Amino acid sequence: MEKINSEEKPNIDTSLAWEAYWNKASRLSNLILWDCDPKLAVARDLSRFKNLMDSQLPLIDFACGNGRQTLFLADHFIRVIGVDVSKSALEMAKAQQNALNIEYRVLDGLKPQQAEALHSEIGDANIYMRGAFHHIPVERRYDCAKSLQILLGNQGIIYLIEISTKAINYFNSLRAEMKYKNPHKERTILFEHGIRPGTVALKDIVNFFSEFEVLKSGEDFFDIAVPLPNGDYPKLPALYTVMKHKPVLPLSEVTK
Ligand SMILES: C[S@@+](CC[C@H](N)C(=O)[O-])C[C@H]1O[C@@H](n2cnc3c(N)ncnc32)[C@H](O)[C@@H]1O
Repeated sequence: MEKINSEEKPNIDTSLAWEAYWNKASRLSNLILWDCDPKLAVARDLSRFKNLMDSQLPLIDFACGNGRQTLFLADHFIRVIGVDVSKSALEMAKAQQNALNIEYRVLDGLKPQQAEALHSEIGDANIYMRGAFHHIPVERRYDCAKSLQILLGNQGIIYLIEISTKAINYFNSLRAEMKYKNPHKERTILFEHGIRPGTVALKDIVNFFSEFEVLKSGEDFFDIAVPLPNGDYPKLPALYTVMKHKPVLPLSEVTK
C-alpha cells in the first residue's frame, strides 16, 4: 500500500477529481470512508458551536458531500445551505438527505467570487466544515480561507474539524502493521482519482484567519465508516476550532 505523505500529492484539478469521484461513488454501493452515522460526527460537534452562533443567520455546511451530516444540522438550525464543488455529490444529497429548510448549491471554495455571489444573496452566515480543508492543496488554502471569510462576514461563526498532523503517523502505522495490506475498494476509488488526505495544523488555520479570534479549539478523532481488515474501525487524529471575526470598531473609535 502506498505510503501517505502530506507533502507529495498527485497534481490534480480538485474540482474535476471530486466530481469524477462522486459520480462513480453515486453509482456504486460501496461505503464512503468518512460517511459515518451523524451520532459519531456532527452530533458530537454540535455542543461545541451551536450556542455560540446567532441562530438567525443561515448555516452553511461547507463541502457537504452527500449531505448526511447536513440533514442532521437541519434539525438544529432554521436555514441550512449545503455547498460542495461536486454536482454529483449534491444530486445524491438532494435525493437522499433533503428537508424543507435545506438548499444544496454548487460552490467551489477555490473561487472566492462564487462566495461573493452567495454572500451578496444571503448575507453573513455561520459555517460548519468537516473534513474538507485538509483536502485543499496547501498552495490553494489561502483561496479557500478567503471564500470562508467572505461567507462569514463580520457576524458568522465557523466550526471546522479536520484531520490533524498526528494522522500521518497513524496512517503509516496502520500500513506498517499491514492492517491495510490489500487496500479496500472504498479507498482505491478515492486514490484512483488522485485524491489523498492532507493534514491541518491549528497554527496554519490561525494564520489564514488573522482577523478572527479562536473561541475554542481542541483535539478529537474522525471515525471512519469502513473497517480495517482486522475489523477495527479507524479513528483518525483530528483537531477542531471555533472562530469568529474580531470586533470591528466603528471608524470614530479607530481614529481616536
Ligand atoms: C472528505 S469529504 C467530506 C464531506 C462532508 N463534509 C462530510 O463530512 O461527509 C470532502 C468534500 O469536500 C468537497 N470539496 C473538495 N474540494 C472542494 C472545493 N474546492 N470547494 C468545495 N467543496 C470541495 C468534496 O467534493 C467532498 O465532498
